[in-house]
Amino acid sequence: MQEQQDTARGIVIVGAGQAGARAAEAARSAGYAGRITLIGAEAHLPYERPQLSKEMLLDVEAPLQMVRDAEGWAALNIDVVTGARIVSGDIRKSVVVAEDGRLFFYDKLLIATGTAARRLPALEAGPLPVLTLRTIEDALALRAHLRPGLRLAVVGGGVIGLEAAAAATKMGATVTVIEAAATLLSRALPPVVSDFLRARHEQAGVVFRLGQPPISATAEGVVLASGEVVPADLILVGIGVEPELDLARSLGLEIDSGIKVDGHGRTSVHNVFAAGDVVSQWCAWHGRAMRIETWANAQNQAAAAARSMVGELTAYQDAPWFWTNQYELNIQVVGNAVGGEVVVRGTPAGGRFSVANLVAGEVVGAVTVNMPKDMASLRRLVAARRSLAADELKDPGFDLRRAAAVR
Ligand code: APR
Repeated sequence: MQEQQDTARGIVIVGAGQAGARAAEAARSAGYAGRITLIGAEAHLPYERPQLSKEMLLDVEAPLQMVRDAEGWAALNIDVVTGARIVSGDIRKSVVVAEDGRLFFYDKLLIATGTAARRLPALEAGPLPVLTLRTIEDALALRAHLRPGLRLAVVGGGVIGLEAAAAATKMGATVTVIEAAATLLSRALPPVVSDFLRARHEQAGVVFRLGQPPISATAEGVVLASGEVVPADLILVGIGVEPELDLARSLGLEIDSGIKVDGHGRTSVHNVFAAGDVVSQWCAWHGRAMRIETWANAQNQAAAAARSMVGELTAYQDAPWFWTNQYELNIQVVGNAVGGEVVVRGTPAGGRFSVANLVAGEVVGAVTVNMPKDMASLRRLVAARRSLAADELKDPGFDLRRAAAVR
């Protein structure tokens, strides 16, 4: 094993995705002057993931959006180590170990190992190509297949599956979406939005098989529980993600659905912090500890954890927020938009509307469909869990902006 220089340990960040990258930047901008080492398993410098299921599929010319380029990292005096998978560590020695044996000693450690796409071995055992969509390589592989006449079976009607379905349809492919649940994006969207979205996809020619998990794949296509075979040349699996917990387990951190952290990104072990998709944190809007798999969480929870790590204790308390773009639709979701009293503003038939979710009279979540300006107000209302009457919210004359401005 090679011993890395132990003289200037500094901060080591494991995971060079959005969260790791933002944490490194935030630690530096908070005034930390010591060594910062950002270590990632992928071959690339940190890059933006939202583009993979959107621009990259639709446009072969789309420039790759990186968090910053090599000069940008050098300017911050942050060492980015790519192609190094950290597999274990030892908290007594304050060290993490790469697959190739390299050792990285730390004063403080931040884990941002993120998640990996869940796979379906039963389909991979068949003769058809099966792809997932999580990395640049995944996006390039999918894009290389997309062409008029391709029969694509998308397994999973979540964010990834539906964004890919929209892109593939635009590229001339024939798409069937196979979803185990009865509705699309059921984790995030209330039925009124989910149904609207389904109709938009159907208008574009996408066919849905809902409430039917796939069983296997043959040369003809994907076999469903009902026995039906969905004809396909290619299968894309987008059935959610699993946290990368090997390092956290090796360090003995407390884990539930992810690495347990407090509101400052601190794990159960002194000097070890965690950020991004891999952490499980209390969410006031859902009323439980959970992993929040969004770009915004990777940005802002990571920045708060990094500031806390360098001595500026910073609480992260944003309501979860994400967006998805499909066809001409921009859909944004804040807080918990499912399961309460769902109030619709505007008419879905018009293609622009928003939805607020009330629990015990408080606005705990909202969705906008092509109404990004409403989202600015709704985010403030949800953050404050403002008490509003359903009748007020429903009224098109009700001034959301003014309501949101009231403290
Ligand atoms: N067969 C069919 N559908 C399944 C199966 C299965 N065996 N298992 C799960 N599903 C469905 C779920 O019901 C859900 O609708 O797959 C969908 C997965 O949706 P998401 O949880 O949104 O995950 P995914 O679309 O893969 O996105 C992965 O990327 O953009 C981020 O926020 C997004 O964290 C998410 C990640």
